[in-house]
Amino acid sequence: MSICFLNGEYLDIQDARISPLDRGFLFGDAIYEVIISVNKKPFELESHLNRLKKNISLLNYSLRDKFDLEEIIYEVIKRNEYSNQVIYVQISRGTDLIRDHIPEDNLSPTIFVSSHELKTEFSSSPGEKAILLEDFRWRKSQIKSTSLLANVIYRTEAKKQKVFEVILQENGLITEGAVSNVFCCLNNKIITPPLTENILPGVTRKVILDVIQNSSLEFEETNISIDSIFSAEEIWITNSTKGIVPIVELDGKKVGSGIPGKKYFQISKAFLAKLSA
Ligand code: PDD
Repeated sequence: MSICFLNGEYLDIQDARISPLDRGFLFGDAIYEVIISVNKKPFELESHLNRLKKNISLLNYSLRDKFDLEEIIYEVIKRNEYSNQVIYVQISRGTDLIRDHIPEDNLSPTIFVSSHELKTEFSSSPGEKAILLEDFRWRKSQIKSTSLLANVIYRTEAKKQKVFEVILQENGLITEGAVSNVFCCLNNKIITPPLTENILPGVTRKVILDVIQNSSLEFEETNISIDSIFSAEEIWITNSTKGIVPIVELDGKKVGSGIPGKKYFQISKAFLAKLSA
């Protein structure tokens, strides 16, 4: 049994119901967070809640103070059996009386928090494959919105081509992955694209940046061209559910020597220490 929270109640997820007029269902007018809980302790909860709050105010959701999300997340973690969990938080603008792109005034947001087992074993990875595709998403991917059809198409393509992730490029520059942020190591320097309207400010990206800044490694937030990524010594992708994963093959071509690089092991070790702290 999996216990979720929906609009004020803790329920077996099998019994959770929302209206088909919910704007999240009809328009993707909803935002979300994916947070991991390790040994029943949420990782980087404050950063996730800050990003969620930013999006709530950006989209003018009328989230009144009646719910304490932090308390709800702790309660969902407590009520579910697994010690390592993936906590999914979704807030939609609410439910209209009729379908209309223009929302009714003062809607009450739908709040949903669920949990499932986190199966990732955060040990050092042997390396994964990725492909490069054009970024055809809308121009505001910095908002963690549930309008994810493009990402669904990319992930389905990844499965079809038996690769771990799709890395996206727009006008010849790398933006991010379909469900991750991208780092690479070029001429001995670690680089990641600076945040724009089209890149999600990843919580894991920020943790990795902190790790790098506390090391003696050379680093810069700068654009990554397609040519650069193909001559990179190392490529890594980062997200909450997978941590930091080295990419050792891109579009069928070896990255560096085709095995995870030295810098990956150094950063990954420091990241794993933070995870289990
Ligand atoms: N997605 N970029 C995109 C497009 C993402 O979907 C994600 C994560 C990230 C990394 O963000 P973070 O480090 O905060 O997890 C970057 C989650 C895991 C998902 O949609 O399931």
